[in-house]
Amino acid sequence: MVTAQAFPGALDRDGREALNAGVSDAFWLDAVKRLDWMTPPTQAGDWSFEKDDFHIRWFGEGVLNVSANCIDRHLTERGDQVAIVFEPDEPDDRFHKFTYREVHRAVCRFANVMKSQGVRKGDRVTIYMPMIPEAAFAMLACARIGAVHSVVFGGFSPEALAGRLEDCGSRIVITADEGRRGGKSVPLKANVDAACAIAEIDTVIVVQATGGEVTMQDGRDIWYHEAAETVSADCPPEPMNAEDPLFILYTSGSTGKPKGVMHTTGGYLFWAAYTHELCFAHQPGQLFWCTADVGWVTGHSYVVYGPLANGGATLMFEGVPNYPTPSRFWEVCDKHQVETIFTAPTALRALMREGDDFVTRTSRSSLKLLGTVGEPINPEAWRWYHDVVGEGRCPVIDTWWQTETGAALIAPSPAMPLKPGSATLPLPGVTPELVDADGQVLEGATSGNLCLTTSWPGMMRGVWGDADRFFQTYFTAYPGKYFTGDGARRDADGYWWITGRVDDVINVSGHRMGTAEVESALVLHADVAEAAVVGMPHDIKGQGIYAYVTLNADATPSDQLRRELVQWVRREIGPIASPDALQFAPGLPKTRSGKIMRRILRKIAEGEVSAAALGDTSTLADPAVVDDLVANRIGQ
Ligand code: WTA
Repeated sequence: MVTAQAFPGALDRDGREALNAGVSDAFWLDAVKRLDWMTPPTQAGDWSFEKDDFHIRWFGEGVLNVSANCIDRHLTERGDQVAIVFEPDEPDDRFHKFTYREVHRAVCRFANVMKSQGVRKGDRVTIYMPMIPEAAFAMLACARIGAVHSVVFGGFSPEALAGRLEDCGSRIVITADEGRRGGKSVPLKANVDAACAIAEIDTVIVVQATGGEVTMQDGRDIWYHEAAETVSADCPPEPMNAEDPLFILYTSGSTGKPKGVMHTTGGYLFWAAYTHELCFAHQPGQLFWCTADVGWVTGHSYVVYGPLANGGATLMFEGVPNYPTPSRFWEVCDKHQVETIFTAPTALRALMREGDDFVTRTSRSSLKLLGTVGEPINPEAWRWYHDVVGEGRCPVIDTWWQTETGAALIAPSPAMPLKPGSATLPLPGVTPELVDADGQVLEGATSGNLCLTTSWPGMMRGVWGDADRFFQTYFTAYPGKYFTGDGARRDADGYWWITGRVDDVINVSGHRMGTAEVESALVLHADVAEAAVVGMPHDIKGQGIYAYVTLNADATPSDQLRRELVQWVRREIGPIASPDALQFAPGLPKTRSGKIMRRILRKIAEGEVSAAALGDTSTLADPAVVDDLVANRIGQ
C-alpha cells in the first residue's frame, strides 16, 4: 500500500466514503450547479433498468449549451488565459497556445461555416481529424449549434469510416488534408475520398493542416480556411435540453458491427467535468495533459469537455510517445509545465522497456499527478510510473471506465491511499456489484462479473439507430443491472481491481476491438472460409489479436498469404486491428451443434495446451482438430 500524500483540496478515503454516502437527488441538483444552465433542472435522475419500464433521464427540465459551458462562461474571468496548448508532432515545429477568447472566436467561426453548409440542430456531423486544435474546435462548434458529432479515429480505414457515416446518416465530414504521427503522414483527405465512394456524402470540410497535396471535388469539398473568411466570429449558442444528444461514438462490442454509443448534453458534460475535478483535484488554470486521441472517449472527456468545462488548460499532442525519442512525453511536460499527465498502461510499458535514462534526463518537476486509463495497469508499470516518472511524489490516478460510462466510475482522489493495480473506490453515485455467472450477488472479498446497479448522470442513453440494442446488450445478462463486460475483484479493504473483459471484446493497447469485427473482415477475403479471433497476452499491448483462419479448399496456406491477410484486415478496419498472430487451421473446434468453442482457442493462443488447461474436448464434433491447432500454434 502506498501511503496517502498531502494534496490540497483532494478527498482522503474517509472524505470519499462520506461523499458517496451522501448521494441523493438534492446532492445531484446541487452538484450540477457547477454548470451554467439557461434553465436549471428540477429533477435529478429518473430511470429504471427494468425491461417493462426501461428509461434513463437526468436533469429533467434543464436547458444548457455545452460549448457555452466550455468557453463563453469563462470569458469574463479568464478570457485571456490559455485554454488549449497545441504541441505538434515535430518537437521543433511551432507550438500554439489558444486563450479562451481565441477558442471562442475559432469555435464560433467553425459553427458558422457548418451553418452556411446547411448543418442544423440534430444533424450528425462526422469528424475525422488529426490531433490538432481544429478537431476540438469542430466538436465544440457542433455542440454550439446542436449538431451531434461522431468523431472517428484518424487511424480507421475508409471502409470503417464509411460504415460509421452510413450508420448515423451523417452527410458531412470534417477532415484535414493530412495528419502527422511519429514523422509519418496519414492521408486523411484521401481516405475520406475513398469513403465517399461507399457512403453518400454531401459536404467535406477540409482543414489545411500540413499543406500536403489533396484532390478537391467541386461542389462537395470546401477548404475550411476559405469558408471561415466569409463568416462572422460570433454565433449564439443553441439552447439544448439536458437529454438532447451531444455525440455518438462508435465502439466495439462482443457481437456485430461497432455500436454508436449516444451521450447526452447535460448528464455527460456534468460527469466529465465533475470527475475531472474529483479525480485530478483540478483547479482552473492548471495545465492538464490527457494523451488520448479525440477519436476515443478518453479524448472526448479529458482532452476536450472535462478540462474546458472546468476552466482548465488542456494540452493537445499530435504525436506519439516515442517520437523522436522515448523522452518525448517527459520533454513535453517540461516544455509546457504540465501538472497532470493522463495516459495508458500500454504507453507506459513501451516506454519502461526503453530504460529509465529517457525519463531521468528530463526534469518533470511541474508534474503533480499521474493518471492512467484504458486497461488494467500491471503493478510493475504502476510502480515505474510512480517511482521513476513521478519520483514517488505524484499519486497515480487509475481510472476505470468505458465509452458507455461517459467518464470515470472507479478511481481514486489524490489523497486516498493507493494500491498498485487497483482503481480503488467508486465515485459518488456509482454502485458496483459482483455477480457470478448465474447472477448471484457475491459479497465480501471475492472476484466476479462487474455490474452497476444504479444509474449515474454520464451513462450512455442509447445505441444510435437501434432502440433495443442498448437494453439487449447491457441489461439482459443480469436483469435490472448494467453489465460492464468486465471482471473484477473486491479486496478485503473494499478496493476494486479490474481484471479485464470477460466477453468477446479484446483490449489491444487500450483500444477496444470486437473479435467479431476482425472475423468479418477476414472472411471477406476470397481465400478465407472461416475465421475465429481471440485475445492473447502481449507484453506491450496488454492483449494482442490471435486469428485462426480456415482457407477455402482451393487456397494454399503460405507466409505470403498470411501477410496478405494481415494487410487485408489493416485495410478493412485499420492498423489497430492487425492480427499479431495468424494461424491457418484446417478446422476449428466446434460443438456438434456447430458452435465454435472459443474457450479452447483462447487457451491455445495463451500457450496453455495441456489437457488440463484445454479441459473437456469430448463434446467437440471432431476432437482431432485440437491436436492440429496445438501442433501448429504460433509463437511456440
Ligand atoms: C478497460 C476507455 C482496467 C475495461 C475509457 C473497459 C480498464 C474497457 C481501465 C473500456 C482501468 C478501461 N483498469 N481496465 N483503469 N480503463 N479499462 O470503451 O476492460 O475504450 O471495459 O473506454 O477498457 O474501453 P473504452
